[in-house]
Amino acid sequence: MSEFDEAQSRRFTALDPMIAAESHVPEGETLTAALPDGTKVRGVLVRSFHGPESMESLWGPRDNFELTPLLGDTGAAGMDALLRVFADRVREEDPGADSVRTVMWPSRDVEPTHTLLAHGFAALNHLAVRPRPAAPPSAAQPTPGDGPVIRRAAAEDVGELVGLALEELRYSAASGPSVVRENSAALLERGLRRSIFFGGSVWIAELDGRPAGLADCGTMPTTGRSPLNGKVHSGRWGYVLTLSVAPWARGRGVGAALTREAHQALDVDGVNGTVLFFSPTNPLSSVFWPRRGYRPVWTVWEARPAA
Ligand SMILES: CC(C)(COP(=O)(O)OP(=O)(O)OC[C@H]1O[C@@H](n2cnc3c(N)ncnc32)[C@H](O)[C@@H]1OP(=O)(O)O)[C@@H](O)C(=O)NCCC(=O)NCCS
Repeated sequence: MSEFDEAQSRRFTALDPMIAAESHVPEGETLTAALPDGTKVRGVLVRSFHGPESMESLWGPRDNFELTPLLGDTGAAGMDALLRVFADRVREEDPGADSVRTVMWPSRDVEPTHTLLAHGFAALNHLAVRPRPAAPPSAAQPTPGDGPVIRRAAAEDVGELVGLALEELRYSAASGPSVVRENSAALLERGLRRSIFFGGSVWIAELDGRPAGLADCGTMPTTGRSPLNGKVHSGRWGYVLTLSVAPWARGRGVGAALTREAHQALDVDGVNGTVLFFSPTNPLSSVFWPRRGYRPVWTVWEARPAA
């Protein structure tokens, strides 16, 4: 790492101790920009296409231009210079409507916020972290008679789970970053089957004898192509991929009960804590998750379409 990149890392970790000390710069095309005083800033551009078979196609536009800025300590001025070059470079590719320019930036580094807004970016996702509590997790509280009943999901639940996952997708698409595709149900079904058979950390909640919610969780490392690489402290993390409560059952404690169950299973020795993505534009999850111990560490800024 150059002195310049170290300055950026130092800045990030001073602002937020949850951020990894070692940054991870992906392989990609290097963009450079010069500030009026001659200082050069860099960024690495990675283009990825989320085709019809890709689960990521539900989480955002298909054609994704992601920039990793390397600004040293140049702050808003460095970001401004680099975003100009980024926009020009992406325009050359003439992307269609289903496209996005993305920058992931520490949530607590607010200095470039107005620059990002001026360049047409909106904060559409947070990578949020909840450290593992110091005390071992207490046994999940038995729910009162009329409360939700939580159990591990099995293959025969997949039909109901897909319906619940579609509810989450529709809400997250209406309120923010997700995208409903023609084959959404098929993609969600494939993902849920994988989670049930290989991960085993899918829970279903029943309320009034009806399927009312689902939590799809797991653990992941911070190495290789992990979305956590260079973002949070290295090691293993639990994650919540999907939490969904049927519209008729919301506000009755189902989401809280599913989260308690998931945390109890994920808060094991060797795990740093739990992570998830939530959108600041989702009025339900942006309140729900901070009350469950999560706080933004990285913010995903997006400009849609990409040009
Ligand atoms: C976000 C979501 C999962 C929350 O689930 P939920 O079951 O509605 O949430 P809960 O009822 O457990 O908790 C919400 C609040 O209602 C309270 N509550 C619990 N029982 C209640 C009851 N009987 N009546 C009213 N409120 C109740 C909870 O205590 C909680 O309050 P708190 O935050 O002060 O603790 C749900 O709203 C949802 O599916 N939203 C759409 C999809 C989505 O956004 N998913 C998350 C994507 S990251």
